[in-house]
Amino acid sequence: GVPSIDIFPTAHISPVSNFLFSGFLEHLGQCIYGGILPSTPTTFPYAPRNPCPQDQFTPTPEHLLTPEGFRKDVLEVLRDELGTPMVRWPGGNYVSSYHWEDGVGPQEERRRRPELAWGGEESNVFGTDEFIAWCRVAKIEPYIILNMGTGTLREALNWIEYCNGTGDTHYANLRRKHTGRDAPHNVRYWGLGNEVWGDWQVGQQTASAYATKARQWAHAIKLIDPTVVLIGCGETGLTEWDSVVLDELVDKVEMHSIHTYTGFGDRDRTQVEKEYGRSVYGPDAAEYAIEISRGLINKARVAKKVQKPIKLAFDEYGVWDETVGTPENGLRQIYNFTDALAMAGWLNVFIRQADIVDIACIAQSVNVISPLIVGPTGLFRQTIYWPLYLFSKYMRGGTSIRTAVASPTFAGETLPTWISTVKGLSAHLDVSAVLHANPDRVCIAVVNRAEKDAFVAVPVRIGHGFDVDETEVEVHEMWHADVKAVNGWDDPDKVKVASRREKWTGQRTFREHSLTLGDKF
Ligand code: AHR
Repeated sequence: GVPSIDIFPTAHISPVSNFLFSGFLEHLGQCIYGGILPSTPTTFPYAPRNPCPQDQFTPTPEHLLTPEGFRKDVLEVLRDELGTPMVRWPGGNYVSSYHWEDGVGPQEERRRRPELAWGGEESNVFGTDEFIAWCRVAKIEPYIILNMGTGTLREALNWIEYCNGTGDTHYANLRRKHTGRDAPHNVRYWGLGNEVWGDWQVGQQTASAYATKARQWAHAIKLIDPTVVLIGCGETGLTEWDSVVLDELVDKVEMHSIHTYTGFGDRDRTQVEKEYGRSVYGPDAAEYAIEISRGLINKARVAKKVQKPIKLAFDEYGVWDETVGTPENGLRQIYNFTDALAMAGWLNVFIRQADIVDIACIAQSVNVISPLIVGPTGLFRQTIYWPLYLFSKYMRGGTSIRTAVASPTFAGETLPTWISTVKGLSAHLDVSAVLHANPDRVCIAVVNRAEKDAFVAVPVRIGHGFDVDETEVEVHEMWHADVKAVNGWDDPDKVKVASRREKWTGQRTFREHSLTLGDKF
């Protein structure tokens, strides 16, 4: 059909949660050791795990470190540019054999351990107190995942007591001793395990076995700290696992966690030409899963008469081609322009689904399948950094509002095909909008996902007194002639954002494969 975009500022979906712009740090590759700490900690002999052959492990110069010894550049980008509000830690698969007591206390007494999820060894140089210290400097809300693989309920309770205890009890006192301060860490958000359904997981379980155990854990955890927000372990949002776990946990948790990655290549690399479609339209399948989750959540709430809303924590999402970012290279993936469009699609999904998605964590925040790549003396921003930056800056803080889009559709292959088959074809134009208050203004994000076709003179109508014709708008556009273009050390700004002020006539051209963000209507 003929493309058009209608925006309805009075049709509110929900306030956009600040936590939609959250991140994730896992003890994997060079995320923690290299991204958060310098790759060679001075306090403890240390060999990086999963070393990347191309990296030089030279000590990080002093001026690149904060007084606490953290990488300053990474911290500043997350805090001052992206305003990352929350970070999930310590995994990921890693958490399923992580014992938190190995990572507290004097550095020289910490135990080195074999690392089971990704291989290599864990020095435990970075543990709970370091994570909290980093969060405080970075102005980030900590979100900790519990070990439901090799970990026990006793250990989990001790960890929560260590972080949040204010009484005269053993673990609260141990924290005081280690930190030299009375104040608790005050960790509000706790996840009940990671991907316990997966056969790669240490401690994989069936849905019902997990649900029974998680229910017991949730009960006990609320006894030790009734103020925590508990997040149950879901799968992708639409599976039998999700359904069973929600039915069992709906009255015991506040949120349900789900994960999906888009951009998987063909494992034999024979069909790479299909990558564009698979990657760019991929987030549509995740949106469909969110809608199914919403149904599963409400079904469970009705059955158990649970009045409080249960929200989704999409606490791992992103673009990851497992044939590129592998355990051998520490999941290091260089992203191209195509991947940036996929990232914009992901963020559109979260804005549109803002009434049910309360947390979204990009996987991951640094070096590991990440928008940021760090070297010994600096960092560069990958292509996927820029949509995250634009959405964090312009789509945060307001109210998500309804849009109606008429658009031609994409007939090629997207992933996962079985979801696309049920939900129908993906539209080329992918749109979300936010209403900001005081003064009222609308921000619109439009991704024209068509690889080859620009859409000319598309009517953009904003209801309720917002006059598109008369207003001068700030426009931020991402476009590159080559969808395979990448940023790198040699050309860190090849893919970036072009910003300008212009008058929209109410009819607008959206270039082929582009993201356009219009602000201040
Ligand atoms: O982010 C990389 C991995 O992807 C995480 O460790 C795991 O939870 C998921 O499978």
